[in-house]
Amino acid sequence: MSDPIKYVLEESRIPQAWYNLLSDLPSPPPPVLHPGTLKPVGPDDLAPLFPMSLIAQEVATDREIAIPEPVRDVYKQWRPTPLYRARRLEKALNTPARIYYKYEGVSPAGSHKPNTAVAQAFYNKEAGIRKIATETGAGQWGSALAFAGALFGIEIQVFMVRVSYNQKPYRRAFMETFGARCVPSPSTETNFGRQVLAASPDSNGSLGIAISEAVEIAATHDDTNYALGSVLNHVLLHQTVIGQEALLQMQMADDYPDVVVGCTGGGSNFAGIAFPFIGVQLRGGSKVRVIAVEPAACPSLTRGRYAYDFGDTGHMTPLAKMHTLGSSFMPPGFHAGGLRYHGMAPLVSHVKELGLIEARAPRQKACFEAGVLFARHEGIVPAPEANHAVKGAIDEAVRCREEGVSKAILFNLCGHGHFDMQAYLDYFSGQLTDQDYDERELAMALAGLPSVPDST
Ligand SMILES: Cc1ncc(COP(=O)(O)O)c(C=O)c1O
Repeated sequence: MSDPIKYVLEESRIPQAWYNLLSDLPSPPPPVLHPGTLKPVGPDDLAPLFPMSLIAQEVATDREIAIPEPVRDVYKQWRPTPLYRARRLEKALNTPARIYYKYEGVSPAGSHKPNTAVAQAFYNKEAGIRKIATETGAGQWGSALAFAGALFGIEIQVFMVRVSYNQKPYRRAFMETFGARCVPSPSTETNFGRQVLAASPDSNGSLGIAISEAVEIAATHDDTNYALGSVLNHVLLHQTVIGQEALLQMQMADDYPDVVVGCTGGGSNFAGIAFPFIGVQLRGGSKVRVIAVEPAACPSLTRGRYAYDFGDTGHMTPLAKMHTLGSSFMPPGFHAGGLRYHGMAPLVSHVKELGLIEARAPRQKACFEAGVLFARHEGIVPAPEANHAVKGAIDEAVRCREEGVSKAILFNLCGHGHFDMQAYLDYFSGQLTDQDYDERELAMALAGLPSVPDST
């Protein structure tokens, strides 16, 4: 037998608990504030949107939070996901680096998003909720929640950012196959959507607008809750199954990563792969360099301000301290729709402030170039979002070649790009451009940040 390519765990090795990084951090992140009182939000403030079990997870400090058996049972449909050694890519790059990737594209929706969608649907069902409203950018999160809603018998309404809705009709069909209703946002179904359309009838929409619409539906209907696909502590928590499995699989490979890489939109897949490794380091174990890769066109971690801001454009959410480009920031229409969010998870932002992670922001053409190289050697076409992680990992591997050192590089291949082939067609026909964010627009959006004492 030649050297192994895949490291595969038995179903019984699906983690029994999610890993909570808060338990190992030297200091907690700043509290989430009520925008009216500027006091920390309490459970009652969040109760119109989320079930109490998820609100409790949002502030939990225990190291381990047990995964309910019905959730583990659904995870078995695709978990544990494989860990690959990218031997063919290594050879193509002529690098001494050992490149590993955790492949989350084997899930029903094609990405990491079902890891939290299934958990959120379960807790909402348990709380007697009939319907969940949500937003989706690339369509991955909406697809994941549509699948989870079908399994737990919950009606799902998805507000899909209009530009993606138009670009990806098959994503809508996919969600509808699971019984969800998908509406282009801004829509005429909410007060906020109608307000946006009145001001700009041709609005392409944004994640911030779609979140406001979904929150409005949940806040105004007793039997309806809201679910977010990223950013919040409980979402990041659910994603830690990725890194926990990867820890076991790296053991199977008799190796340990020197570098861990993930792409960042709201921060959940990155946290999922990185937090368990950061936890090992914080508890005195092996050290890792952890690299977050975000788009140059929406660079919250590298160019944003660490300040209190709203999570949505309509200012219906609480205020969270995070790296933000300003809640009114409209990123240019580049192709990694799932990375077009103005903010970053407060926990990822805090970890960056603590110096535990680095961040980079490559341009989209370079990311597609990396993704195509990866596909031609490894046989998997990555989602445009995941191409950012591929680019980060390849850059590190090339550096190993130049410096003549062999390091182990682990990255999260968080989704496949089977619904994103238009983006690849645009890349091949030279139509993809490298749009930087507009400095003036960014300055205006940052000038509009809410004023919170002590916010830097
Ligand atoms: C494939 C894929 N990767 C990454 C992301 C970004 O989200 P997050 O940073 O929460 O992982 C998305 C979001 O839609 C996505 O669809």
